[in-house]
Amino acid sequence: MKKLLLTLAACCAISCAVQAKTLIVYYSYTNNVERIVTALSSQIEADVIEVEPAEKGLDYAANNYAIGSSQIAAIRNNPNDKSSYPAIDPVDVNMDDYDTVIIGAPLWWSQMAAPLQTFLFEYGKEMAGKNICLIVSSASSGISSVEADARRLIPDGKFVTPSLWIKSSQTSSASSMISDWLKKIGYNDFASDMSVIFTGSDDALNIYTLSGLALTDLVSSVDELKRGIYIINGKKIAIQQ
Ligand SMILES: Cc1cc2nc3c(=O)[nH]c(=O)nc-3n(C[C@H](O)[C@H](O)[C@H](O)COP(=O)(O)O)c2cc1C
Repeated sequence: MKKLLLTLAACCAISCAVQAKTLIVYYSYTNNVERIVTALSSQIEADVIEVEPAEKGLDYAANNYAIGSSQIAAIRNNPNDKSSYPAIDPVDVNMDDYDTVIIGAPLWWSQMAAPLQTFLFEYGKEMAGKNICLIVSSASSGISSVEADARRLIPDGKFVTPSLWIKSSQTSSASSMISDWLKKIGYNDFASDMSVIFTGSDDALNIYTLSGLALTDLVSSVDELKRGIYIINGKKIAIQQ
């Protein structure tokens, strides 16, 4: 049975939000991933960041995808060197705000599209311990090397499986594929953002939603509560096993 440890100094009644924020980060050249992200963000609460290459107007598809090919080759040849990655526009993000990151990635030459790899090269280490979910769009190639790129660039991420693979020809079905996938990975179990009221003292803690439901009406037992540290108005509540 889980024990609720209340580290607040005194009896209290606090209304607050248990934060479980999600970030969607994506890159899209021909807008398939962009359409996927639009469908995704209509189904979940999330902040969205679009990665943009610093160099504008490049035609990645010209000459049999020559630019994309050489960018991917540079990364493959020297994945630990920052200069292998194409520059991207600066991104304003504080990873501490998020505990789940969903990555929307086009596949290029079997790998993750180069500009998105640049973003993860810069921020992947800050994603340690976060839930990492991956959605990949390709014309036909399988996505295992894109998954490998994500694991290389986010070495300590908590990867949620399976990833979602949406072929470009399936983009118009993205909405239903996403909702099935969110159920399959149990998205609401690890990423719900719940407004709650805590009342109680050091030896008793009752948790209610703002609409007055006891938390135990929402989960069938206290055992379903996720173990973790919750920050409530700047104070810590630990839920332990
Ligand atoms: C440079 C480049 C390389 C690509 N390489 C592949 C590939 O090897 N296999 C494949 O199935 N699709 C490949 N594609 C197609 C994209 O994965 C596909 O069109 C995807 O839907 C693009 O997403 P976007 O529209 O969000 O950019 C490539 C596309 C580009 C631009």
